[in-house]
Amino acid sequence: MADITSDPEAQLSITTRQIVLAQRPQGFPDDETWSQVETEVPSPGPGEFVVRTDHISLDPAMRGWLNDVRSYVPPVQLGEVMRAQATGVVTASENADFPVGTAVIGGFGVTEHALSDGSGVSRIDLGLAPAPTWLGALGMPGMTAYFGLLDVGRLREGDTVLVSGAAGAVGSVVGQLAKAKGARVIGIAGGADKCAWLREIGFDEAIDYREEKVLRRLRELAPDGIDVYFDNVGGDILDAALANLRRGARVVLCGAISGYNAESLPPGPKRYMSLLVFRASMTGFVVFDYQDRYPEAVAAIGELITSGRLVARETVLPGGVAGFPEALLGLFRGVNTGKLVLAVEESA
Ligand SMILES: NC(=O)c1ccc[n+]([C@@H]2O[C@H](COP(=O)([O-])OP(=O)(O)OC[C@H]3O[C@@H](n4cnc5c(N)ncnc54)[C@H](OP(=O)(O)O)[C@@H]3O)[C@@H](O)[C@H]2O)c1
Repeated sequence: MADITSDPEAQLSITTRQIVLAQRPQGFPDDETWSQVETEVPSPGPGEFVVRTDHISLDPAMRGWLNDVRSYVPPVQLGEVMRAQATGVVTASENADFPVGTAVIGGFGVTEHALSDGSGVSRIDLGLAPAPTWLGALGMPGMTAYFGLLDVGRLREGDTVLVSGAAGAVGSVVGQLAKAKGARVIGIAGGADKCAWLREIGFDEAIDYREEKVLRRLRELAPDGIDVYFDNVGGDILDAALANLRRGARVVLCGAISGYNAESLPPGPKRYMSLLVFRASMTGFVVFDYQDRYPEAVAAIGELITSGRLVARETVLPGGVAGFPEALLGLFRGVNTGKLVLAVEESA
């Protein structure tokens, strides 16, 4: 293959900082969990290219990938670079599909530079939306909202939809999509500011679970019950939702962040008999199973963003890869409104 390298940076050897898994955490990840290493990035061979990352995705699922258990993906191994989606720009290339200067997204990990052969890498259109949005509403969280609500939740016009984690990456898209499809939407989030933002972007009602009794508020706001409950958090909020279903309700099991750092198994749902009483279903799903249909969701969400009917918001934290351990904990403290993203500073 012809040498299509043109960036002078490509001629120099590149050192990259990376975060690797040092020790599996019990409970919340801490300083012992991670180590920062510096390593040389090899020059690209035939079919390969080097990416300089600019934004790294922070995802609740990362906590699960640290556990040595059987799951929908293998755990991150000790000594391995932490798995993460990231956006970036191609800086050296021996791959004609990804020439120097191409903006891309892929599973590059928590690193400043990565060598790639193009597997699992896509181009992103920065004219449509900035890089952080490609990790949020136009990325995996947006896909999760779209297929979880429409396929798993089988949303119908006129439904009453309840979504927890509503001010987060997935939840904020779920609520806005549901509104765009003619549903009545109630969001649950932590704090007055988040609830005010939910109303601003079109949610009909918002419940602050830190200040209000969720079950009581739900009975006031949806006396006839909920048709779709999109669950991002599990725990007591799931129980409150189960206690307030409508006949034929669909409970979408997307995630259960309230238990991700628990050191022993959290108690199971107490109200699961509601599924029987209300002839309801509860279905888990993994967004990766919809990969073939991502273009459909990107087109639909992209259209809603450009027509001003869907607000894509991100909370971008500074700190570079060194800030990753602290930034990840931010998800469990709820520091984010919209998608939580880490900005990568250029290496010295
Ligand atoms: N099934 C799939 O394929 C799939 C794909 C992507 C994501 N997910 C799941 O979807 C959920 C949302 O993910 P995301 O990326 O959009 O994250 P996110 O909602 O943007 O961020 C996490 C949010 O969770 C809330 N939270 C943290 N601890 C909580 C607790 N103890 N109780 C209640 N809420 C808590 C916080 O908001 P507050 O301030 O409101 O508490 C925080 O901002 C997660 O459970 C994730 O695992 C599933």
